[in-house]
Amino acid sequence: MTATRPDRQIPAKLLAWYDDHARALPWRALRGEPAPDPYRVWLSEIMLQQTTVAAVKPYFETFTYRWPNIETLASSNEADVMAEWAGLGYYSRARNLVKAARLVAERGGFPDTEEGLRALPGVGAYTAAAIAAIAFGRRAVVVDANVERVVARLFAIREPLPGARKTIRTAAERITPDERSGDFAQAMMDLGSRICTPRAPKCDACPLAGPCAARGNDPERLPVKAPKKAKPVRQGRAFWIEHGGKVWLVKRPGTGMLGGMRALPDDGWSAANDGSGDGPLKGEWSDVGTVRHTFTHFTIELRVVRYRENPSLVTGAGEWWPLDRLDEAGLPTLFAKAAALARAAPERLL
Ligand code: ADE
Ligand code: SF4
Repeated sequence: MTATRPDRQIPAKLLAWYDDHARALPWRALRGEPAPDPYRVWLSEIMLQQTTVAAVKPYFETFTYRWPNIETLASSNEADVMAEWAGLGYYSRARNLVKAARLVAERGGFPDTEEGLRALPGVGAYTAAAIAAIAFGRRAVVVDANVERVVARLFAIREPLPGARKTIRTAAERITPDERSGDFAQAMMDLGSRICTPRAPKCDACPLAGPCAARGNDPERLPVKAPKKAKPVRQGRAFWIEHGGKVWLVKRPGTGMLGGMRALPDDGWSAANDGSGDGPLKGEWSDVGTVRHTFTHFTIELRVVRYRENPSLVTGAGEWWPLDRLDEAGLPTLFAKAAALARAAPERLL
């Protein structure tokens, strides 16, 4: 094989394997089925950004039950979508989802090219390629972390990530077929998640073992990764204000971390904050404990404090939310953890 001639053996073997071994996933069309609905492909790909298939499945089912097509999602209330998204993380995805749905409904359908898709809010290069290939049968080169791993091994690319991205992409380009590139992409993902796994890849069961350059030469070492920088740790406080079976919740500002989500009041998690100072109410607060949560760029240690006095005079933007329906508030995971801690604490004043 020369560097310029596309490799036909790899896609042929992989697609044959996929025909028999594809995971049945609710957004997929399997062999012999009509092309999948672009709405479902788009929704699944947005949910699958940074999130595992197992975590996505129940959310995908709920969303498609409640909003079965682009029109229903486009006319939804953003707050309902945010609340339904709670727990999936990366909440800007949910805000962009509603924006994109409105644009698509207005133009009468999804764009069917990578370039057109790329113009939608929340759709980056990877997602545009995936939708173009899977929903519209376009030839597109789809490279996610699974594909990176498989390609780095197939071609024994030893250059460390992230620097190796370009080399990996060029190699992926070379093996992407003109036909069925959506199935090819999903086959690479399935191979990466079930056979060519990060640890202990199952080379004996791999349809690409023949052409694979890493087989028998410690494929687990690939891809090489440049050492990660430690994530900074930020500290903050969250305020638990409870009264008469209800808790005081606020709506976070539309932009910034967890923007637009319902939450416990907090102190802004500023590094300058030394953990002292008044909460939103004057008076006595007691320590409930600390929860930790890791976001993309930092970890937060959030100290949860409980108001010890009668808070019935609390004012400002917010709402009293019944504790027995707290699971319906759509709290993002950080605040759901904080609430669980506060509710488990033995001391129950007022
Ligand atoms: N991860 C991202 N997109 C996917 C897909 N279509 N199938 C399986 N895993 C995925
Ligand atoms: Fe991965 Fe092994 Fe298959 Fe190579 S042979 S692609 S290392 S599972």
